[in-house]
Amino acid sequence: MTSRKFAVKKIGIIERYQEFLPITERTPIISLNEGNTPLILAEALPVELGLKNIRIYYKFEGLNPTGSFKDRGMTMAISKAMESGAKAVICASTGNTSASAAAYASRCGLKCFVLIPEGKIAKGKLIQAYRYGAKTIMIKGNFDQALKLVQEISADGKITLVNSVNPFRIEGQKSAAFEIVDDLGDAPEYHAIPVGNAGNITAYWKGYNEYKKAGRSDTLPKMLGFQAAGSAPIVEGKPVPNPETIATAIRIGNPASWKGATNARDESGGLIEAVTDEDIRKAYRFIAEREGVFAEPASAAAVAGVIKLAKRNYFESNTRIVITLTGAGLKDPDIAMSFDDKIECVEPDISKVKEVIQS
Ligand code: F0G
Repeated sequence: MTSRKFAVKKIGIIERYQEFLPITERTPIISLNEGNTPLILAEALPVELGLKNIRIYYKFEGLNPTGSFKDRGMTMAISKAMESGAKAVICASTGNTSASAAAYASRCGLKCFVLIPEGKIAKGKLIQAYRYGAKTIMIKGNFDQALKLVQEISADGKITLVNSVNPFRIEGQKSAAFEIVDDLGDAPEYHAIPVGNAGNITAYWKGYNEYKKAGRSDTLPKMLGFQAAGSAPIVEGKPVPNPETIATAIRIGNPASWKGATNARDESGGLIEAVTDEDIRKAYRFIAEREGVFAEPASAAAVAGVIKLAKRNYFESNTRIVITLTGAGLKDPDIAMSFDDKIECVEPDISKVKEVIQS
């Protein structure tokens, strides 16, 4: 037998961007080949909005190994946890962080505990944490309460916290900004992103700044953050005790990285605004039905935000807008099936099928 060579070497964000990341020779790289997600040119959206000479791109993070951007941060957080000799990790989550933590922990034999708000997490995400083998605990409360609990539980250092208050999470997540600059050749003029616990907007802003400093880009984007109207503490300027939105991923009333988000907004000359659940639902359908991109409702919040701003002529011409689509549509089947256009079911009879086709 001759030995085989594996021609394709797909690498994750740590190997790809190691010079920008706090790793050492001793850091074990726990990876699922995350990152390297596509920057998809929007075809229908600019036409729908009458935007001439503006290119819109979707950074589709739903194509990461566990279906969300969290994998970028988790590869770093779990690798560093392993380096430090941790035996267990814990997080609070609206679903995606727990799915990602559970996957990366399972890959290296770490125990994983996740606290999630009962009844307010998309089914696909719940199934992920559970099936990747995390000890999954529902709490009769919201994300903010869950986060407070895991911070207390991890305070003695016995269990490592892997929420985005862990700085290694932000370090990993900034790699998405690097990829965008690598793909476009420079930073876009605008970057739109949903805001929940506010780690990701913080991470992108850090990434764009570090890349510029390293001479990889000449410019910085305006950061445009969007919260759901019922969960918009940063927009309102005060915590929301009982946040509500159909976009359960961003159902957060007191974001941990509040300051990071307002810094990104202010330093970039951008904004953070709210979009209604109705706008989120419309944007969610639009990108699936007109662009062929199926993302979850929280991701659609950023699309809804761009639509809102375009309607008031916010964007200058000859510019590029990147919208981060943070998670995959399949994670939330209940929302997907919650619209009026129900799937029809008929007898296996050609006339019945034709009736539906012609209706
Ligand atoms: N989009 C999705 C799909 C998310 O899961 C999250 C956060 C966000 C946007 C907001 O990102 O928190 O960095 O501002 N999900 C966290 C979780 C809170 O537990 O999965 P953020």
